[in-house]
Amino acid sequence: MIEGLERSTFDPYLNKKFEIHTESSRVGEVELVEVIGNDSNSSESFSLVFWEKFGTQFGQNTYKIIHPEMGEFELFLVPIDNKGKAGFYYQAVNFMWKTPVYKLQANDGKDISIDVTSSCAPGLKANKVIKDIARFLKKNELERILDFGAGALRHTFPLLRRSFQVCAVEFEKQFQKKSCKNALKRAKRSANFSALIFPNGFIEDKRKFDAAILSFVVPTMPIPEEREALLRLISDKLEEKSLIFWMSQFGKYNQIKKDSIKVNDGWYLNPKRTHHSFYTEFTNEQIDNMMKAINFIRIRSLSDRGTDQFRVFSRNGVIKWQKKTRTGFPL
Ligand SMILES: C[S@@+](CC[C@H](N)C(=O)[O-])C[C@H]1O[C@@H](n2cnc3c(N)ncnc32)[C@H](O)[C@@H]1O
Repeated sequence: MIEGLERSTFDPYLNKKFEIHTESSRVGEVELVEVIGNDSNSSESFSLVFWEKFGTQFGQNTYKIIHPEMGEFELFLVPIDNKGKAGFYYQAVNFMWKTPVYKLQANDGKDISIDVTSSCAPGLKANKVIKDIARFLKKNELERILDFGAGALRHTFPLLRRSFQVCAVEFEKQFQKKSCKNALKRAKRSANFSALIFPNGFIEDKRKFDAAILSFVVPTMPIPEEREALLRLISDKLEEKSLIFWMSQFGKYNQIKKDSIKVNDGWYLNPKRTHHSFYTEFTNEQIDNMMKAINFIRIRSLSDRGTDQFRVFSRNGVIKWQKKTRTGFPL
């Protein structure tokens, strides 16, 4: 992780070259091709993307980075998808996600605090669509599932019961809440269960997965740049032949969408509490475009009615979902 560096430190060095070293030797040279971050949260929150164009690939690790003007510093670099371009791409994230609590300014100028872990309602049952998802996963022999932003594990349990290997990812603060703690304790009885703390545990874990479930997670994230960076991180944990199941809602919050609680591209809920939760809505097209940016193509909508947006994405469209027949989903 980057310590003591700010996003603004890197802005002047966009398109500039950096040397990459391990403890003992120089491993290559990269160019800084992207600096993203959001100063309304904290200037220490940013993501950097580097391009290695000479074809030298190096693994996920902490490297010493050297620039003649900036000097030396350490970054944890994660290889990311090169989207079919030449060379290799690496991302360093200094997050952004140090804490799930965001100090933001609402659009009316009021200082507010958003705790993204408070968006999780304990006691909710698994959505029944998980059965269709599980059958489709089985049919395609996809076993290792990432339940990202798993909350109180409502979708982890039905998958464990069907013998999938499930890795639940959450902020430590969420896992420590009573409802999640109890759920974790139960889930740990299964040898097929594992849990990772976000961000460090997740970013540093080297396993690959066959599918990820993103159930009501991305719309609770208040910083748009973090959503993009997160989707990229998740995509890089997934195999070439893999799926992402996206769940969200559109139109559910029409009643409360008021200018007085607007922040960034969404709204803060429970305005009377000290820590609020955040919610935004995406059109189906926006969701599909976010996923296209990480090369995931929509292959199915599991719910076209009401406010639900349950969408299935396949990396490069490799896994197909045949058209619905009169007897239901052809699973
Ligand atoms: C609305 S809850 C949904 C929980 C669960 N997926 C479900 O459907 O019941 C959103 C969850 O996403 C988690 N979350 C939000 N941003 C996250 C991030 N960047 N990393 C990990 N978890 C995140 C929150 O802590 C919260 O538990």
